[in-house]
Amino acid sequence: MPRMPVEDLAQRAAELAAKLHHHAQRYYVHDAPEIPDAEYDRLYAELQALEAAHPELLTSDSPTQRVIGGVLAGFTPVRHALPMLSIRTETDTTPAGAQAFDERVRRELELDAAAPPVEYSAELKFDGLAMNLRYEAGRLVQAATRGDGETGEDVTQNIRTIREIPLRLAGAAPAVLEVRGEVYLRRDAFERLNERQRERGEKTFVNPRNAAAGAVRQLDPAIAAQRPLSFFAYGLGEVQGWVQPETHSATLDALAAFGVPVCPDRAVLQGAAGLVAFHAAMGARRDALAFDIDGVVYKVNAMALQRRLGFVTREPRWAVAHKYPAQEQLTRLNAIDIQVGRTGKLTPVAKLEPVFVGGTTVSNATLHNVFELRRKGVRVGDTVIVRRAGDVIPEVVGKVPGERPAHVPNFRMPTACPVCGSRVLRERGEVNHRCSGGLFCAAQRKQALLHFAGRRAMDIEGLGDKLVDQLVDAGLIGTLPELYRLGSPEGLRKLSALDRMADKSAANLVAGLEKSKHSTLARFLYALGIRHVGEATAKDLARHFGRIDRVMDATLEQLLEVKDVGPVVAHSIRTCFEQPHNREVVAGLRAAGVTWPEHDGAAASSAPQPLTGKTLVLTGTLQLLSRDEAKALIEAAGGKVAGSVSKKTHWVVAGEDAGSKLEKARELGVAVLDEAGLRALLAGEPGEPVEPTPDC
Ligand code: IVH
Repeated sequence: MPRMPVEDLAQRAAELAAKLHHHAQRYYVHDAPEIPDAEYDRLYAELQALEAAHPELLTSDSPTQRVIGGVLAGFTPVRHALPMLSIRTETDTTPAGAQAFDERVRRELELDAAAPPVEYSAELKFDGLAMNLRYEAGRLVQAATRGDGETGEDVTQNIRTIREIPLRLAGAAPAVLEVRGEVYLRRDAFERLNERQRERGEKTFVNPRNAAAGAVRQLDPAIAAQRPLSFFAYGLGEVQGWVQPETHSATLDALAAFGVPVCPDRAVLQGAAGLVAFHAAMGARRDALAFDIDGVVYKVNAMALQRRLGFVTREPRWAVAHKYPAQEQLTRLNAIDIQVGRTGKLTPVAKLEPVFVGGTTVSNATLHNVFELRRKGVRVGDTVIVRRAGDVIPEVVGKVPGERPAHVPNFRMPTACPVCGSRVLRERGEVNHRCSGGLFCAAQRKQALLHFAGRRAMDIEGLGDKLVDQLVDAGLIGTLPELYRLGSPEGLRKLSALDRMADKSAANLVAGLEKSKHSTLARFLYALGIRHVGEATAKDLARHFGRIDRVMDATLEQLLEVKDVGPVVAHSIRTCFEQPHNREVVAGLRAAGVTWPEHDGAAASSAPQPLTGKTLVLTGTLQLLSRDEAKALIEAAGGKVAGSVSKKTHWVVAGEDAGSKLEKARELGVAVLDEAGLRALLAGEPGEPVEPTPDC
């Protein structure tokens, strides 16, 4: 501890006491903590150490001297027949924690080194809230929270909504049996609950324990019932008319026989070595459990020995909680990035000052969506609470109230996808932003390719998820048209270079690709993976428009004329084809030989074709489009591509290393465009020449 003048130490102690008091109220009374438990424990330990070193600083109302808890107005207080105690916590998460407990027990029992190992019952330390269930003549008559250990709250109505808790005990029931255990929320139930809250744009819960505590202390049992709580028994309270078994483990077995849930992950073990092994084994399984645990609990198994060991103040000498690394920690939010998922969802991701949480070092955590981010009020520079539990992605669950630099701007979602530049959309009533790039977006490429190749789409035999992974990971397929180039000698060479790609599978793929080229407009439209365009809509569109160019050029009004197409679907189709790169994909696929029968459609479209009556000449190498793709695009837009420049040429599109055609264009005063200019033309914008054309 740093050397400080006594006045400063007194001030620090008072400060710590005030903080601990505040946070205990938030935790116990309001079920809404502002800091992680680990942080609370640190403050608590600091105050304890201060008081130990300077007993004159110890006050009777110090948080270290009190069992905190409280009764919320609205619930009837219940005085426990036997106080609900807590257990000593071993925060040293290494094997030394278990060894220290065993040594203490042996010392207290005055066992010498030669005495056989002590038998223990080892259990999980469930991270929920303690509950006393009182059964009289086998019927559940009362459920009460722990409160301050002496007096809790009557929450019977809410506890009755927990299906796992029997309202009647099985078998021959004692006159009075108080079952003590933990009410908790499974992780999947917690995730679902938060997912629902997020969808509704409501506040999410920090962790399963808070959600469970909030549910138990809900004044409205109907709301409590919406959170599917669970329960595990771990001990007894008052008992009348029943002879308790001789060991703790046998007591748990008896409770299970009464029909009370008892966690099967428990063991009877010998000595420190057994405890150490249990701590390690459960630690390894921690992430895979269906619920949160914050440690394991060791209890001397023989009741006779428990009685001999007794209690120190309010803690039994025969039990200890041996912790695991905390699942929530504080750290600094350094930046907010955007991640684009396989389905195109944009997720704000917190870039964190690396922090050890839930057993690993975490430097990225999800912020879910922009609304939740705002609700939590987090900004770059804030100290935030990070949670990592189970195999769910670490998340920022909140921030610690406090100062922040004045100039930090509010986070904004980008309007263009950070991966592919496509427009970012958010539909009405949706909380998530999405990239509209689909097939064009590298982040969505694998998923999009699989969809494209699917049986109900282009039905490309031989293209499954493993091969898609390989092709994309090896960089062989950037855009969809490239898929069809795999059949070329160059493509085949690349394929054969793929890891483990047998000649036979390459041949299968090439045959599959060839076969898929003869398709239908409905399949093709569905294959493009336009959001909200499922098979049925694709069929309706194909029937209605008959030709791909009419679908691509249809206005919102025209799209709305299609059976079952509403504003959301129409908008999604418009957004897709408004973007030149998506039109290029279509043109590229056609150029690669993908065909389907077309007709004039149920409703002949009058969609304007931006290049009708125009002649263009291509020269040089374009960066993004192959010559064929550019040609197909121009033709799809109603234009013609000529081989040489004349006075009748409307535009010359010049790529790199353009030669005599460019010179000729200059000579004749024909407008020259670059690739971007061509895209603008295709999108219906007036052509902008890239260089001034001489007057003539
Ligand atoms: S035994 C006298 N066993 O941890 C011993 N407690 O301070 C009473 N807890 O809030 C507790 N899992 O609700 C025991 N397997 C377990 C437990 C457990 C969780 C909680 C308990 C209490 C705290 C102990």
